[in-house]
Amino acid sequence: MDQDSTHTLLTGNEIPVMGLGTWQLTDDTADTVVEAIEMGYRLIDTSSDYGTQPGIGRALQQTTIERETLYIQTKVEETDDAYSATQTYLKELNIEYANMMLIHRPPDDGPGVELWQGLIRAQKEGLAVDIGVSNYRIDQIQTLKEETGVWPVVNQIEWSPFGHSHEMLDFCESNGIFIQAYSPLTREKRFENEVLQQLAQKHGKSPAQVLIRWNLELGTIPIPKANDTEHLEENLDVFDFTLGEEDVKKLHALNEQYSCLGELPYV
Ligand SMILES: NC(=O)c1ccc[n+]([C@@H]2O[C@H](COP(=O)([O-])OP(=O)(O)OC[C@H]3O[C@@H](n4cnc5c(N)ncnc54)[C@H](OP(=O)(O)O)[C@@H]3O)[C@@H](O)[C@H]2O)c1
Repeated sequence: MDQDSTHTLLTGNEIPVMGLGTWQLTDDTADTVVEAIEMGYRLIDTSSDYGTQPGIGRALQQTTIERETLYIQTKVEETDDAYSATQTYLKELNIEYANMMLIHRPPDDGPGVELWQGLIRAQKEGLAVDIGVSNYRIDQIQTLKEETGVWPVVNQIEWSPFGHSHEMLDFCESNGIFIQAYSPLTREKRFENEVLQQLAQKHGKSPAQVLIRWNLELGTIPIPKANDTEHLEENLDVFDFTLGEEDVKKLHALNEQYSCLGELPYV
């Protein structure tokens, strides 16, 4: 596996094994995204409520890397009309299509079948290559499939050794759905953990790199956010070591359903 490796989605399309998150990437979004793309990041994650779509759009104009080799994903909000919101967000991003459109979170009153139908239409019309969900529970994903016949190809959820769910991982694996790991670095909040520190020392890597590598070896797709150039470089420098089964298990054992956002909405 290297930084250009991909996974194959249920639809047969490829998705990079990791990406860049852009929540609060508000300092010079365009410059940072150009820098990241030129370093080798291929997948860029955003959302209408991050305020980074226009900056990412400018970065796509500025970079010499071709649009076809980049993977741009954004999200519709639970209060949106999913089809027309997709058109609006593509305009903000200044792109013809998104590689992935996600429902940001399920609405309060159900799993959002209407939103899902809007994304299915957007996909049929070529506005989105693939469609998925975020912050969904297993039963909510099942309802979308039962009501429309279409599986989401990813579920983007908060995911780290400190907060994850084997039930969700098993469900996703057995249905060909990929977990995208958001806040994979716990927003730096758990870097001091003793086991994490020991593993970082053992492998000559940083806690952030161990957290990213845990995802890569699990087959989940981390999207760490970084504004700082050193952080951007460090987070991509994770393909020259292997944790191995034993160390991955030590990290699994740290699970306490921890959430740096408040609570894990999927457990
Ligand atoms: N779907 C959803 O509901 C949802 C919710 C939350 C997040 N997300 C997505 O997931 C992405 C990532 O999650 P996140 O932004 O919440 O948190 P994160 O990626 O866990 O952490 C980002 C923080 O870690 C720092 N950092 C990055 N690399 C580092 C390194 N190598 N060493 C030390 N510190 C480092 C960053 O600092 P600098 O920025 O200063 O470099 C930033 O403060 C978001 O940006 C967003 O795209 C989605």
